[in-house]
Amino acid sequence: MTVGSLEGLSGLARPLLAALPALTRGLVQPATAARSATWFSQVEQAPKDPILGITEKFLADTDPSKINLGVGAYRDDNGQPVVLDSVREAERRVAGSHFMEYLPIGGLRDFIQESVKLAYGDSHPVLKEGQVAAVQSLSGTGSCRLFADFQKRFMPGSKVYISEPTWANHFNIWRDAGVAFEKYRYYKPETRGLDFEGLMEDIKNAPSGSVFLLHACAHNPTGVDPSPEQWRAISRAMAERGHFPLFDMAYQGFASGDCDRDAQSIRIFLADGHRLAVSQSYAKNMGLYGQRVGCLSVVCDNQRDASAVESQLKAIARPMYSNPPLHGALLVTKILQDAELKQMWFKEVKGMADRIISMRSLLRQQLETAGSPLSWRHITDQIGMFAYTGMTGDMVDTLAAKHHIYMTRNGRISLAGVNTKNVARLAEAMHAVTKQ
Ligand SMILES: Cc1ncc(COP(=O)(O)O)c(C=O)c1O
Repeated sequence: MTVGSLEGLSGLARPLLAALPALTRGLVQPATAARSATWFSQVEQAPKDPILGITEKFLADTDPSKINLGVGAYRDDNGQPVVLDSVREAERRVAGSHFMEYLPIGGLRDFIQESVKLAYGDSHPVLKEGQVAAVQSLSGTGSCRLFADFQKRFMPGSKVYISEPTWANHFNIWRDAGVAFEKYRYYKPETRGLDFEGLMEDIKNAPSGSVFLLHACAHNPTGVDPSPEQWRAISRAMAERGHFPLFDMAYQGFASGDCDRDAQSIRIFLADGHRLAVSQSYAKNMGLYGQRVGCLSVVCDNQRDASAVESQLKAIARPMYSNPPLHGALLVTKILQDAELKQMWFKEVKGMADRIISMRSLLRQQLETAGSPLSWRHITDQIGMFAYTGMTGDMVDTLAAKHHIYMTRNGRISLAGVNTKNVARLAEAMHAVTKQ
């Protein structure tokens, strides 16, 4: 019985119990406060996020020539963040045109339609047949998390296979969703390229019906992507074992400069008849990092299944964040719906990709000019925002301590932080720490 339900009591008991909250008010509050203090004093400091930790160290360094190669956000040749002209124009067109109402749980309809067209190709049969369940998500991270929660509920007993190495947050996402994970071989340090044989073996040995998390393009952190022939072989092997592919596509357009080419892995799998899921992000390719705008789509057997899956994705989203944010989705929609703006964006994303590609060549060339006898070919062979240099954690520490150059301890450098002004200094420092 609660204090609120006093029916059934008689005599003195009733007024006494009714007065209880007031009588004990002075006692209960400090006791509760003391209890919460005890709870919080048990809380340990969470480990620092490795990438944000680098930014902190970089900011604390007072050397004027310091270089930050840690964060995966695009910078121009002057080291400045960029707002794309297509985005500025979309903002101008969007300004004042909309109420600031809630979006539906699944997000903005037009945005979703444009996003799946971008991922699968404008008139792909899976779109025409209504086989695709899709919701707007909180950028790439949010898409992955939605899928992980969906996997936990609706693909019971399945594990997720994650490449070794991968973007570190993948592990956190599936761990927090309560899905067991395994690693699959991906990178071969000796060749600084793909461990194709290891990958194929791991696909074959994984229990049938496993989820394989694949990077659609511009693998983070290695910059190593399978060739189209290798993708075809991976697709066939996965179909034979009945695995489910989830493509994390955080860099569409950013790898080669061509959005269709960067989505070719997905299209190859679709041609083989796979049911699959795609996580899209507009953080890098439109520079909308802080807007948290992305899309999760799942290709199903038919319209009925797609509708059911979509309804369950919304049911997962509702108690987490109710509905996604509006502004970024409006910007993306304006750009993708308007032929002229879309062309402008295609050019701009190619411009970013081309600058990164030219920095790869320049860095390799400068390392050779600095007299490094080592092979740096992998820097130009790799693709996307990052170069996986092969430098050790100790070398990375020396680069920070002696040369004021910051990067993750796995030797990954963000090429977005490299420019014509700092590339020679970077190459000399890399040569200095790698020559012993
Ligand atoms: C492979 C990969 N997936 C997903 C993301 C998520 O990015 P966001 O949540 O900012 O879209 C990133 C960002 O670095 C990434 O590299």
